[in-house]
Amino acid sequence: MASTGGSDGAPKGEPFSSSSRSSSSFTSRDSSSTVGSNVSTEPTSLTIQVLQEITDNFSEEKALGQGAYGKVYKGVHANGEEIAVKLLHNNMSSTNDEKFQHEFDNLMMLNHPNIVRLVGYCYETQRQHTDYQGRIVFGETTYRALCFEYMHKGSLQRHLSNESHGLDWKTRYKIIKGTCEGLKYLHEGLKKPIYHLDLKPDNILLNDDMVPKLADFGLSKLCGAEQTRVTEQALGTFGYMPPEYLFHRLVSNKVDIFSLGVVITKIIAGPEGPKRIAETSNQEFLDQVKNCKLFTP
Ligand SMILES: Nc1ncnc2c1ncn2[C@@H]1O[C@H](COP(=O)(O)OP(=O)(O)OP(=O)(O)O)[C@@H](O)[C@H]1O
Ligand SMILES: [Mg+2]
Repeated sequence: MASTGGSDGAPKGEPFSSSSRSSSSFTSRDSSSTVGSNVSTEPTSLTIQVLQEITDNFSEEKALGQGAYGKVYKGVHANGEEIAVKLLHNNMSSTNDEKFQHEFDNLMMLNHPNIVRLVGYCYETQRQHTDYQGRIVFGETTYRALCFEYMHKGSLQRHLSNESHGLDWKTRYKIIKGTCEGLKYLHEGLKKPIYHLDLKPDNILLNDDMVPKLADFGLSKLCGAEQTRVTEQALGTFGYMPPEYLFHRLVSNKVDIFSLGVVITKIIAGPEGPKRIAETSNQEFLDQVKNCKLFTP
């Protein structure tokens, strides 16, 4: 990791605080990517103490919500930027340091206007002692957190509504276009493609100007939960996954493209859109597409 804070007044932390771990060799953002414009600084290493301070000790008042991999809190970085702190669950026993670092590197190198920017991270092990039956025993707790730019308008899920309500068509188009561009970057703009594998409106976040940014790709790998993801989260993501992934766990870029189709349908027709389309006959559907003048400039 090139930047560990300090120059911008941010507290200086170590990626691995335990004496049993050496310093990380995190790589810097990918200069080989085809797009790069919205990043000026590299993610900063933050200690768990700093994260506790800026989230009022991970208080409920600062909580933005809870996902499959941890809880998200709002905080303000020492440089004044509002951030979202995702404190990952502590039960990631199947994830070793090497794997965590590999996936973290994936997140860190990304640089695109439609990808949520990683601004900081914490990976720290603390030795703690506790009184157990009159004896002092020592244990270790590892904290893993990822800090992202704060997205003021929240997730796309909050804004979905049918054709006649909610977002105007220009905004819907902007969200669809940005989502496609973010996904194209992950699939085609990097040395090695990244498949999102959990593309859904909850993971498309919107900034003040309603610019969409993809979030939470690679987290299943980061958390070592890939194998259990589908069964554990079937209700949340079932409708976005193609059969070959659900039943045979076949992973390819097509998984994301399938999810993208469902997302686009929901942006155009609202949460009930895909269901209505499923109930439409093939001919009726084709007629509707042919007649669709929504996106003519
Ligand atoms: N960068 C961010 N800026 C603003 N809000 C965020 C940010 N990241 C996450 N959130 C909000 O925090 C809440 C929890 O997010 P989280 O990603 O943990 O769960 P999720 O998206 O609902 O489910 P999943 O675990 O499948 O991603 C959501 O309401 C989300 O909109
Ligand atoms: Mg999410």
